[in-house]
Amino acid sequence: MKRYSRITGTGSALPERRLTNADMVTLLAQRGIETSDDWIVERTGIRARHYAADGVNASDLAFTACRNALAAAGCRTADIDLIIVATSTPDMVFPSTAAILQHKLTEAALADGDVAGAKGCPAFDLQAVCSGFVYALTVADAMIQSGAAHRALVVGAEVFSRILDFNDRTTCVLFGDGAGAVVLEACEHDGSGPGILSSDLHADGQHVGILCVPGTVSNGSILGDPLLKMDGQAVFKLAVGVLEEAARAALAKAGKTEADIDWLIPHQANIRIMQSTARKLKLPMDKVVVTVDQHGNTSAASIPLALDHAVRAGHIRPGQQVMLEGVGGGFTWGAVFLRM
Ligand code: UT7
Repeated sequence: MKRYSRITGTGSALPERRLTNADMVTLLAQRGIETSDDWIVERTGIRARHYAADGVNASDLAFTACRNALAAAGCRTADIDLIIVATSTPDMVFPSTAAILQHKLTEAALADGDVAGAKGCPAFDLQAVCSGFVYALTVADAMIQSGAAHRALVVGAEVFSRILDFNDRTTCVLFGDGAGAVVLEACEHDGSGPGILSSDLHADGQHVGILCVPGTVSNGSILGDPLLKMDGQAVFKLAVGVLEEAARAALAKAGKTEADIDWLIPHQANIRIMQSTARKLKLPMDKVVVTVDQHGNTSAASIPLALDHAVRAGHIRPGQQVMLEGVGGGFTWGAVFLRM
């Protein structure tokens, strides 16, 4: 018997405001910038994205996603002993969005009449940009396997609309806001039950400049550009290579092959990257969860958002094996292979 961590509930949240590609055409036209539904759909697969209203932060989206995940898992906030939030768009420079989230969840639990919330449990943010969720899941899994935690909330939450340059059509049409969360819980079995079976994480800092928000806060003002910059083609080329490698490495660590993948959930950035990865792994597209068309690229939130949508639609079922794959700024990438 071995200790594993398994997903017992998923949840997600999308802001109400939905912008179609036609809305983006209008928005950019006000700045004298041309784009089109045809270009966006053909080059990316994106048809719509959601933007958070003023005053709605990553912790607010994370809160809703966590409440939904807790309800799906059938557990209370007080049952949680670890919170990790993957985000590149935190509410504040510090404290962490996870600490803010912990307080919001605790207040809501007390308002529900519970005697306790999540007060006191470790809560921290993890920064690996679009790979953040697979990094966070791996860290939570290690803490659960070691006995340091028993039941964790692992969250990806982003408000990328706040860091977009709406004068740059090559990036601003791509990203959206949202959050996804899972309850990850300890269990014991001989390897045939549910849980995280393997993971494979990487970073290569030589590529910092191809996808970044270079600005920072210094001496009371913003030093450098606080908006997202991306060399799309450079990111594209790296992404298609590393996503195949990471999936193969995670399969090898689990003693599995491509044939053991029931579902592939790649980071939702561009349908062409997802198609290329599926081809290389010899998977038909009907085994790939696709939400990029409706959500755009929500960075660390994209994988848990897609996972929750596929679970709630009844596509991903207990016992099935799922490959999650992240790739993004850093350059970072990684995969988690798990059984539901
Ligand atoms: O989240 C982390 C991971 N991120 C990614 O994986 C993103 C990876 N990169 C990509 O998905 C793609 O590189 C993009 C979608 C960003 C760009 O697609 P592309 O096929 O590489 O286009 P491109 O940058 O080569 O641009 C082709 C043309 C250019 O015009 P010219 O120079 O050929 O006349 C661009 O100016 O498309 C033009 N273009 C646009 N046209 C209309 C770029 N953006 C737009 C736009 N609307 N929004």
